This record gives sequence, structure tokens and C-alpha cells, in this order.
Amino acid sequence: MYINGEWVGEGFETIDVTNPANGELIGKVPFAGEEETNKAIDAAHNAFKEWSGLTAYERADYLQKLYQLMMEHQEELAEIMTLEMGKPIKESRGEVQYAASFIEWFAEEGKRVYGETIPSHLRNKRLQVWKKAVGVVAAITPWNFPAAMLTRKMGPALAAGCTVVIKPSSESPLSAIKLMELCEKAGFPEGVVNLVTGSSSKIAKAIMENKKVRKITFTGSTEVGKILIRQSADQVKKLSLELGGHAPMIVLDDANVDAAVKGAVASKFRNTGQTCICANRIYVQSGIYDEFVEKFAAAVKELKVGNGIDESVDVGPLINKAGHEKVSNHVDDAVSKGATVVTGGKSLSEADHGAFYMPTVIKDVSESMIVMQEETFGPVAPVQKVETEEEAITFANSTPYGLAAYVFTENVARGMRVIEQLDFGIVGWNEGAPSAAQVPFGGMKESGVGREGGHEGIDAFVESQYVAIGME
Ligand code: SIN
Repeated sequence: MYINGEWVGEGFETIDVTNPANGELIGKVPFAGEEETNKAIDAAHNAFKEWSGLTAYERADYLQKLYQLMMEHQEELAEIMTLEMGKPIKESRGEVQYAASFIEWFAEEGKRVYGETIPSHLRNKRLQVWKKAVGVVAAITPWNFPAAMLTRKMGPALAAGCTVVIKPSSESPLSAIKLMELCEKAGFPEGVVNLVTGSSSKIAKAIMENKKVRKITFTGSTEVGKILIRQSADQVKKLSLELGGHAPMIVLDDANVDAAVKGAVASKFRNTGQTCICANRIYVQSGIYDEFVEKFAAAVKELKVGNGIDESVDVGPLINKAGHEKVSNHVDDAVSKGATVVTGGKSLSEADHGAFYMPTVIKDVSESMIVMQEETFGPVAPVQKVETEEEAITFANSTPYGLAAYVFTENVARGMRVIEQLDFGIVGWNEGAPSAAQVPFGGMKESGVGREGGHEGIDAFVESQYVAIGME
């Protein structure tokens, strides 16, 4: 753990970090609880005055140093990520770049946190809005993007003048620890960035009960998000939540089928299907349904499955046995209710620790199947035939989630008409990979509160302070 500029960990019970590809132990991290979390919060609180008092330009210098260090250590960071959570190494390299891009972009955006001067209704009064860093931020991050989800929170928080306490997922804490080493090298003052590992419930309890924490930023399940909303009520802590998704992809008759297949593969199989914005259910209009299914299955068959550390691998292991079981249950349920497996539909082998599931396409699915109702978080693409645009929109919106959606059509007016009716925070139009540092990422409905990335991403870490100035 990294608390107040010091490495802490001796004498703690530990949590094993294992490689999901082969079950090998690759590290151990301290199993800490409330005491260390409160120490980290105190450190962040003590550092806040000085850090928030720096100019945005001074803070940007630290962030730029961190960005440079991340790029210098790209290969090492990528290997750690692949070992701890299984992501194919090509994608891990991409994630390190993506993660670093948040640090670089917010270093600059911190310089554009403008206040406002508002025309006054009286000659002897001036009205202004000043911007203030919100205070100590607790960032709770997931295992599926161990670096990018951290920097998407930490980058804007630090740029805005906040100090941070990070709780990484126990499944993939090593990438976050490596990032703390780089923060130390970049020379961040002690207490500005802190990291604790251990019991999620005890750490969350300490964060929620400690009045010094003014903001929680969390990526994870909607279930946990709802608990955090309830727990934050007592102290009215500010919240940014990026929660579950169940993304529809709509492919209409006038789509470029090859582009739709490319988009579907990119979206669905990124990170072995363990992405909140993965296309989780694909609705294809009847005129191109057969062609789409055939071409899509052919492309999916080409994907190589295996240990992500192998350069040629496209699809790695699931994070754990429970993840594998969920995927397998979704496919079995669909088949038992009449769906047809076009490719995949089973584990890679009996002897692989229950880690790998074959990239799968199933067709003839319907709304009664679990795979169309819940986020699968695995390499399974269910394809449902629809007759009309209206039917596709109705199916797409019939979920409590509203994170991402995808539409494939070459007709501009139709694309706009469909997108206007979709209740999703992110839409890829003829595009399967919409994420970037400079755009707002987040969901409608039960998929979250607030946006990360872009200028909204830094707004989340500042408060408006309205100042009325008398001129007598
Ligand atoms: C996520 O799965 O929540 C992150 C995906 C992304 O940033 O593209």
C-alpha cells in the first residue's frame, strides 16, 4: 500500500493475486481494513491545502511527468496487467496508452477550469462563480481495466486540485501499485496520492464514515453502486458512478455488413467480452440477418484463444471460475430455450482451470433468454432477428441499463432518428470502439451517475462557489 508517500505492508495478512490463465500465484498484497484506510484519508486531507493551492500549471507538470513515465514503462505495465487479469498483451499495451491519455489530457484540461462573471442586475454589485476542488476523493476501481479506470478518475481529480485515496480491485491490484511507484517517481508530494488494498467492505465502510472524504468515484456493478448511493446519504458525499451495462447493437438492412461485422467483433470480444460497453445483444434486421450471422461467425472463428501473454492471442481467460460459470450458464440457458450455436458454445478444454471459453456466436435468440436480459461479461454474442427499426429500438431500450449502444446503418437520417430514441449515454454509429480520454463516458438509467472523461470528467471534481461582491 502507498500511504503518505510511504510503502506500507509488513506484518499484514495478505491476499493472493493469481494469473487467471493458469492459476499461478503472481503476487500478494496486504489485506488491510479501516485503520489503514483512515490513515490514507488523513494523509490525503493533510495534503489537500497545499496541492489545491498550486496553480493548474504546477499540477500539470506533475501529471505530465507521470504520463511520460507511464509511456516509458508501457511494456512492464502491460505485462503486469496481462498476468494479473488475463487481458491479451496487445490489448494491455493499448490499455496502458489509453490510461496514460487520461493523465495527459487532464493535465491540460486542468488549465481550463474557468469560472464565470455573470452580468449583474445592480450597478453596485458584481456576480462571479469561482471553482474549487471538491476535497479528498476516494476512487474505487474495477479489475477489468486496472489502469485506465484508475487514471480516468485520478487524472481529473488531481488536475482539479483534489487529493486521492485509491482502492483497487483485489483481483488486479498490481497495475495500480505499479502506477503508485510511477507517481512516487514523478515526485507527487506525500499524501496527494494514496492506495490501500484489502477488505472491500471494511475499506468502503471507512471511506463512507470518514467525513474528510467528500467525493466517491466508483466503477463496478449496479448492485454495489446502489449500496454506495445509500451509504453516501448520511454525509451527502458526492458520487460519480460508472455501473453495469447491457449494450444493444442494432444492425439495420442498409448497413455495410462488413463494417458491422468488424464493429461487432471489436466491441464484443474486446477484453474477452469483459467490458461494460461490450455489445451484449445484437439485433439484426431480417434482410441481412443470414449474411451478417455467416460473416460474423466466420470472423469470430478466426480469433485465437489462449494465455494472453502469447502475442498471437486475441481472447484470453475469464477473470475467475464464477465468470466462466456465468458465461456457460447463459449459453446453456439460451440453447435449452431454442437458440442455435453457430460457433463456440463450450469451454476451450477440460484441463484449463475453467478459465477459457470459446468465442461464441448464437443465433435465433429471443427475449426470454438470460443472455438477452443480463450482462454476460464474456465472449458470447447472441444475435436476434428483428423485422423493423421500431422493434429494434423497443428491444434495445427494454432494460434498466443505459450505458452504451451501437447502431449500424449507412442512412444518415435513419441513424439520427434511431439514436435520438435510444436511452444510452454512449452511442457508436458504424463504430464499435467509441472510448477516448476527451469524451464523456457514462450511463443513463441504472448505468450510473455523472460522466468520466472530457470536460465533464473534471467538472465532477470541482464545486461552483458563487461570490456576490458589493461595490459601495
Ligand atoms: C469499462 O468497461 O467500464 C471501460 C470501457 C472503456 O473505457 O472503454
